[in-house]
Amino acid sequence: MTSARPALLGGPELGLALRGLARRLGARRPRFLRGERVERPLVARRVRTERLVLRRHRMSDAADWYAIQSCESVIRGLRWPVRDARQSRQHLRDRTRHHVLAQADDFLAYAVDFEGVLIGDVLLHLRDVNRATRSAEIGWVLNPDYTGQGFAAEAAQAALGLAFRRLGATVVFAEIEPTNVRSQGLAKRLGFEQRTPTRHALVREAWERGAAERRRPQRVIAEG
Ligand SMILES: CC(C)(COP(=O)(O)OP(=O)(O)OC[C@H]1O[C@@H](n2cnc3c(N)ncnc32)[C@H](O)[C@@H]1OP(=O)(O)O)[C@@H](O)C(=O)NCCC(=O)NCCS
Repeated sequence: MTSARPALLGGPELGLALRGLARRLGARRPRFLRGERVERPLVARRVRTERLVLRRHRMSDAADWYAIQSCESVIRGLRWPVRDARQSRQHLRDRTRHHVLAQADDFLAYAVDFEGVLIGDVLLHLRDVNRATRSAEIGWVLNPDYTGQGFAAEAAQAALGLAFRRLGATVVFAEIEPTNVRSQGLAKRLGFEQRTPTRHALVREAWERGAAERRRPQRVIAEG
């Protein structure tokens, strides 16, 4: 009689499984395991668009951030856990620390500021550093009180400009649940193409073509 042995993971399977688990837990690999760095890290500086300012998050945003995190549609759209005010502050604190893209898994969080109020957030995750295949993933959220006015598109457009022109991304991905119709609509308006049920992609050439048709250039203001 042969005894049944538990299946053991090894090699690349183990690596993938660990990476998946780390992602679900929100953990990032230690820096020394994250490979090469981009030749010129992207550091978040204030960006002024037609109506908005993109800037770093700060703890004085805590009440506005909690208002966003308390919205049922936001929790559903982003699959965020329900957070109380203290947990929301911790979450915000983490965001205040992420403002440089240099290595794979780094993320840069931009607060979306409209007339001095934090109305949302746009994120860039650096996924692939290799120059020929460099990629980033974008994420967005808006306080429902401010949706339906083109603010998310305006903020995302500025972040895409940084991803393609400054970071040198060849493609930007957006991961969107098939049920998230508003987010899918935004991706489509921005020129993303759907590749899988959840993955949408915008390649640099397509973004450049769209950029040529857009009106005003964004102004980058030195931080400080
Ligand atoms: C996804 C989300 C950011 C989209 O926000 P949004 O406001 O719908 O997106 P946009 O900025 O593109 O705005 C488009 C709307 O503004 C309107 N609009 C008004 N003025 C406009 C202007 N000057 N320019 C562009 N659009 C304008 C458009 O007609 C459109 O209206 P509609 O929704 O009635 O068709 C928002 O729904 C959200 O935060 N959801 C919860 C979080 C979430 O799911 N995040 C994504 C996870 S993948």
